[in-house]
Amino acid sequence: MDYLPLPGTPVEEIDTPAIIVDLDIAEANIEAMSTFASQNGVSLRPHMKTGKSPFWALKQIEAGAIGVCAAKVGEAEMLAEGGVNEILITNQIVGQTKIRRLFGVASRANVTVAVDSHENVAELSEAAQAFGRELGVILEVETGMKRAGVEPGEAATTLAKAVDRAPGLRFDGVMGYEGGAVYTENFDLRKRQALESVDNLLRAADDIEASGLEVKIISAGGTGTYDITGKVDRITELQCGSYLFMDAKYLQVFGDHPHPFRPALTVSGTVTSRPAPGRAIADPGQKAISIDQGVPEVISIEGAIVQGLSEEHCVMKTEGPADNLKIGDKISFLPTHSDTTIAQHAYYFCVRDGVLETVVEIAGRGRFT
Ligand SMILES: Cc1ncc(COP(=O)(O)O)c(C=O)c1O
Repeated sequence: MDYLPLPGTPVEEIDTPAIIVDLDIAEANIEAMSTFASQNGVSLRPHMKTGKSPFWALKQIEAGAIGVCAAKVGEAEMLAEGGVNEILITNQIVGQTKIRRLFGVASRANVTVAVDSHENVAELSEAAQAFGRELGVILEVETGMKRAGVEPGEAATTLAKAVDRAPGLRFDGVMGYEGGAVYTENFDLRKRQALESVDNLLRAADDIEASGLEVKIISAGGTGTYDITGKVDRITELQCGSYLFMDAKYLQVFGDHPHPFRPALTVSGTVTSRPAPGRAIADPGQKAISIDQGVPEVISIEGAIVQGLSEEHCVMKTEGPADNLKIGDKISFLPTHSDTTIAQHAYYFCVRDGVLETVVEIAGRGRFT
C-alpha cells in the first residue's frame, strides 16, 4: 500500500524522502509565464517532460496555455487519459508499435507530432490511412543543438513538401529547441546563441513558405530562453517546461538576470546518521534526487554542504548552524535538475502554507516508451 498522508498533515510530518511542492509558488510561476506570453503575443504550450501529470497540464491550460508538449507517446497517453486534449509530441515517433499507440492517443486528443526524416513520414502516412485519421505533423529543424532535426534549407523544404503530399498527414509547421543556449549563464551570450538558433528556424520557415506551403506553427523556447525567443515576432508558441518548478540549475543560469520564477519544488529528507563530527547523513540518495546536473543544495539550514549521493544516502559536510543537526531532523533539498528528479517519484506532496493540500500522482513516471 502506498504511503498517502491525509490533507491537513503539516509538511514536517510528511515522511521522507518526498517531493514537496509549494502550490502558491508553482501557481505564481504558471501565472507569470502565461502573463509573459500574453503580453508578448505568443502562445504557450508548456512541456510536460517537467510536470509529468495531467494535474499540472490542466492547471497550465486553465491559466491560458493552448495545450501542452510531451516528449514520448507514453507521456501523451498519460495526458490524454487525464483529460488533456491538445498535445504536441516534440519528438520522433517511430516503429509500428509506437505509431499504433500514437493513433490511439489521436483518437482521444488532438495530437501533432514532430518528424525529421522521410522514412518516418512514410510510416506515419501509412498508419494515418490505415486508421482513417488525419495527423498533424511539424518538422523538427536542427537549429544548432546537434541533436535530432532536419537541416534548414533544401532538406527541410523537401521534407515539408513530402509531409504535405503524404496522404493522411497535415503539414502544420516547424519547431526547434535552443538546447545549446538555455544553460548559458552570460545573458548576452545566451541571447546571441538563442537568436542564432531561432534565425535558423525562421530561415527554414521562410524557405518552406516560399515553396508555397503555409507554416502555421513556429515553436521553440526553453526556460533559459523564454524572454529571448518569446520576444521574436514570428515565433508562434513557446514550449518551455522547467519554469513550473524552477530548479537550482536554472536559478544559477539566470543569476542576477531579472525573472519572475521561484523554486517551487524541494525534496524533503531526514537526518539518519551523525557518524562523525562535521558529517551528517540524510535519506535522499540518487534514487530520490537526480545528480545529472550536479548535487542538490540544502536550503532549510545554513552550513550543510552536500558532498555526494550514493543510492540511498546523502553525505553532507556540516559547519555553523548545520553542526547542530540531530538524527531525526528534517531538511529540505533543492534539486539541481527537477525533471530527472520528478521522474523517479510516485507522488507530489502539494502544500500550501506548510500544510498538505493534495497528493498528486506523478502519472508520467516510467512513461518513457
Ligand atoms: C524539445 C524541447 N522543447 C523544450 C524544452 C524546454 O525545456 P526547459 O524549459 O526545461 O528548458 C526541452 C527541454 O529539454 C526540449 O527538449
